[in-house]
Amino acid sequence: MTAQIIDGKATARLLEKELALEAQELQKERALVPGLAVVLVGDDPASRTYVNNKERACKRVGIYSEVHRLPGETSQEEVLALIHRLNHDPAIHGILVQLPLPKHISDKACIQAIKPEKDVDGFHPISAGNLLIGDKGFVPCTPHGILVLLDRLGVDLKGKHAVIVGRSNIVGKPVALLLLSRHATVTICHSRTPDLGLHTRQADVLVVAIGRAEMVTGDMVKPGAVVIDVGVNQLGDKLVGDVHFASAQAVAGAITPVPGGVGPMTIGMLMKNTIQAARWA
Ligand code: GUN
Repeated sequence: MTAQIIDGKATARLLEKELALEAQELQKERALVPGLAVVLVGDDPASRTYVNNKERACKRVGIYSEVHRLPGETSQEEVLALIHRLNHDPAIHGILVQLPLPKHISDKACIQAIKPEKDVDGFHPISAGNLLIGDKGFVPCTPHGILVLLDRLGVDLKGKHAVIVGRSNIVGKPVALLLLSRHATVTICHSRTPDLGLHTRQADVLVVAIGRAEMVTGDMVKPGAVVIDVGVNQLGDKLVGDVHFASAQAVAGAITPVPGGVGPMTIGMLMKNTIQAARWA
């Protein structure tokens, strides 16, 4: 079997078109332009690229965006003061602090400083708590994007065995909750799980977000499974996922490529959350 390639880029562009119409409607009906503020501290090249991509997506969708590019030596107090100002800015509906931050600035302090109503990343403890109890709130963009990809692929998650490799607060844990809310049976594996393949081979839906290049190989995939690769790793001069693409593609039913799979959906969901924040304002 050769797996169908799940085209996240095409799905994200389609989603952006739908969101652009929503943004136009908001402007017509409520004279409201959704606004996103992005805070970038330092000059990490990957973060700079991600932020530029977010800025470009805002333009395509019709979201006002401002990027605060601050030097690496900026103090935590200065970043917190900026977040405080953005919390009270009526033109800004969503605030995103690009991670990772320089070592002298606490991720936790910055995330907690964002008003939950503007937490379009879905990282604030209030957002995480709402997701846990199944209440309305912002869902982190990558897990949300994975769910939309599965929906648009027509995967019925009810009763399926979903296995997640990785337990981060940003991907592993929230994607587990989302899949659970769709009535999947969920297993979470991580770096200390012995015999990882024993678990992954049982997955109808396999989500890999462990941050290690090409760690999951084709022999660890159940024939016909849907494989979602969240990893982005530089290997020599190319970008690869956490899944060894060629060997997994030979076994799976469908698989996301890297790049062009989950990544574009993450940005699409940020646009969606920003429009949602504007609606709730
Ligand atoms: N760094 C890498 N991915 C993300 C993300 O989704 N949000 C933020 N804020 N920082 C990131």
